[in-house]
Amino acid sequence: MKALEEKILKDGVVLNEDILKVGSFLNQQLDTEFIMEMGKEISRIYSNDNVTKILTIETSGIPIAFSAGVEIGCPVVFAKKSKSTNVSGNLYTSSVYSFTHNETYQIMVPCEFLSKDDRVVIVDDFLANGKALNGLIDIVNKSGAKLIGCTCAIEKGFQKGGDTLREQGYRIESLAVIDEMDSTHITFRCN
Ligand code: G4P
Repeated sequence: MKALEEKILKDGVVLNEDILKVGSFLNQQLDTEFIMEMGKEISRIYSNDNVTKILTIETSGIPIAFSAGVEIGCPVVFAKKSKSTNVSGNLYTSSVYSFTHNETYQIMVPCEFLSKDDRVVIVDDFLANGKALNGLIDIVNKSGAKLIGCTCAIEKGFQKGGDTLREQGYRIESLAVIDEMDSTHITFRCN
């Protein structure tokens, strides 16, 4: 998505060789108009796939998933990372290891919100090592739903999570893929 690449170049800040800050439009502050444009692009990518549900993970995946759900016209389900009193009943769960935070956490989705009749697209903000996507894919598989594809806004191609999933046969359609970055330049993968 050319507009996202331009946005990253304009507003993104390379914190170090691994972390890109996009807090001004995707994380701490949301550029609502731009996020709706991302939803349109996700809807375009899956326009022939009869998607019935978007699945994401709290927190920063939710706005992008919401915009995709609006454009596709389907509900958005989000996995929670910790159990709270308003999550009850039968749950699909999976373990996710975060390299960024060096910890393993449980993610959970109520069984009632995903079924074998669903055609699911997974949406998230960042794709780094792919652990969050693996956990969400595991939940889709446990539900018996059909996984159509996965779209993250920003894939850090140099961290291999996306390419490993592609090699395993998954459809991974990131909106922007960064192959190299440092404080002076960001190189995007050509489509
Ligand atoms: P992985 O799922 O691809 O293996 O990634 P990892 O565990 O390393 O990512 C952990 C968290 O860090 C995720 O958010 C992810 O979105 C975020 N993250 C990863 N790389 C970057 C980056 O370069 N820049 C920014 N801004 N975030 C990055 P999270 O902790 O689950 O946070 P949130 O979604 O609750 O906000």
